[in-house]
Amino acid sequence: MKRPIAISLSPNTEKDDVILAIKLFFSPIRWFNFRETEKLEIEFAARFGNKYQALAVNSGRSALYLILSALGIKDFDEVAIQALTCVAVPNSVLWLKAKPLYIDVDDTFNLSPKDLSEKIGEKTKAIIVQHTFGVAAEMHSILKIARKRKIPIIEDCALALGGKYDNKLLGTLGDISFFSFGRDKVISSVFGGMILCKDQKLYEKLLDVRDNLDYPGPRWVMQQLLHPVLLSLILPFYNIGLGKVTFGKLMLFLLQKFGILSKAVYWEEELGQKPKVFPAKLPGAFSILALNQLHKLDRFNLHRKEIANIYFQKLKSSGIKLPNKNKGSIWVRFPVVHENAKNIFNCAKRKGVLLGDWYKDVVVPVKNLSVVNYERGSCPNAQMLAGKIINLPTYPSLSKRQALEVVQLLKSCLN
Ligand SMILES: Cc1ncc(COP(=O)(O)O)c(C=O)c1O
Repeated sequence: MKRPIAISLSPNTEKDDVILAIKLFFSPIRWFNFRETEKLEIEFAARFGNKYQALAVNSGRSALYLILSALGIKDFDEVAIQALTCVAVPNSVLWLKAKPLYIDVDDTFNLSPKDLSEKIGEKTKAIIVQHTFGVAAEMHSILKIARKRKIPIIEDCALALGGKYDNKLLGTLGDISFFSFGRDKVISSVFGGMILCKDQKLYEKLLDVRDNLDYPGPRWVMQQLLHPVLLSLILPFYNIGLGKVTFGKLMLFLLQKFGILSKAVYWEEELGQKPKVFPAKLPGAFSILALNQLHKLDRFNLHRKEIANIYFQKLKSSGIKLPNKNKGSIWVRFPVVHENAKNIFNCAKRKGVLLGDWYKDVVVPVKNLSVVNYERGSCPNAQMLAGKIINLPTYPSLSKRQALEVVQLLKSCLN
C-alpha cells in the first residue's frame, strides 16, 4: 500500500532514510558523535563556495536564536520580520526580550520592501528576510534599504535550501543566514538547523557559543529517530477507517499524546515560551540523517520544479491565483490563492488528500497573536492573504500522476 497524497507527515522520507533511522536507533554509540556533525558542516558549507563556514544546531529556531544573540540583539531592540511566518521566528526575537517589528508582505508572500522602508527606525537592529515557499524575496531593494542604515540582514532559508536569486544561492545575499532540516522543510532530519556565515569574527563567536551548548537528551534523540520509521508504517493506513476516525489519524494522535513522537512546534511555543531543548547541539545521529538527505537535494529540488511546472500549466485558467514563475524558486510547497481556500482544503481532506494551510494566520501556530506581539491591522496584505493560501504538494515521492490528481481534485472542489 502507498502513502496517500499528504503534503506534511515526513514528506521527504524515502526508504533509505527509514533504514538509516532504524540502524541509528540501534547504534546509540553514534548518537552524539561530533565527527558526523563536522562532516555535515563541511559538505554543507562547500555547496556555497569556499568563503563560507557552517555551524549545525538542533533546529532552525536554535540557529536564529544564536545568530540574534551573536549580533548583540537585546532588550527593547527591534528586529524586522515579515508577517506570514512560523511562530519560531518571532519567538527567537522575543526570547531575547527584543521586539518583533512586523513588516507586511508583497504578493509573493515575502517581505515588502516598501513597508520595510516605512517601518524601520532607530531601534531596528536586524532584518530577517524569509524566502517563503522557496521563492526569493526582493533582495535588491531590501539590501539597499538595509545597507543605507547599516542594519544586518539575516536570511531565513528554512524553506529555501538550493533556491537562487539573480543566479546566486539563497543564503549568500545577506550578512548571515540559517536553514532548517525540520520534517516539512527542503531536506529533513526531523529536527536540525544550520548557520551559514562568511564573517570570520562572527563565526568564531558563534562557534564558541555553539560548542558550549549541551546535546539534547537520549530520549529526545530516540523520539526523533522513531519519527520517519513510525510514519512510514502508519501512512499507508492513514485514510483507512470509519468517517473522520481513521487508523492513521488515531495512531498519530496517540503517539504524539504519549510522547513517543514529537510535534514540530511545542505547546509552550504557541504561548511564546521557550522549550528547554532549544538551543542545543545537533546530535551526530541527526547529522548522519541530514547528510544523507543533503546528497539528494538536487534531485529533490529538480522534482519540485517539475511538479510546479505541472501546476503552472494545468491550473492556468482554473480561477485559482497562481504564483509568479521564477527560475530560481525551489517550491518546497506550491502556493495558490483562492477566496474559498478553507472549503477547498476541507473538500480535499474528505477525499483523502491532505493539502497545506501555511499560512492560515499572520503567525502560525499560536494560541493568540498578542502572544507574539502582533498588532491586528499592522500588516493588512498579510491579513488579507492569511487563510486564503492553499499549499499544493511537490514532495519527492509525489508522482506526476498524483500531481495531476491534485489538479483534478482542485477543479472538482471548485465546482
Ligand atoms: C520560515 C521559517 N523560519 C524558521 C523556522 C524554524 O525552523 P525549525 O523548525 O527548524 O526550528 C521555520 C519552521 O517552521 C520556518 O517555517
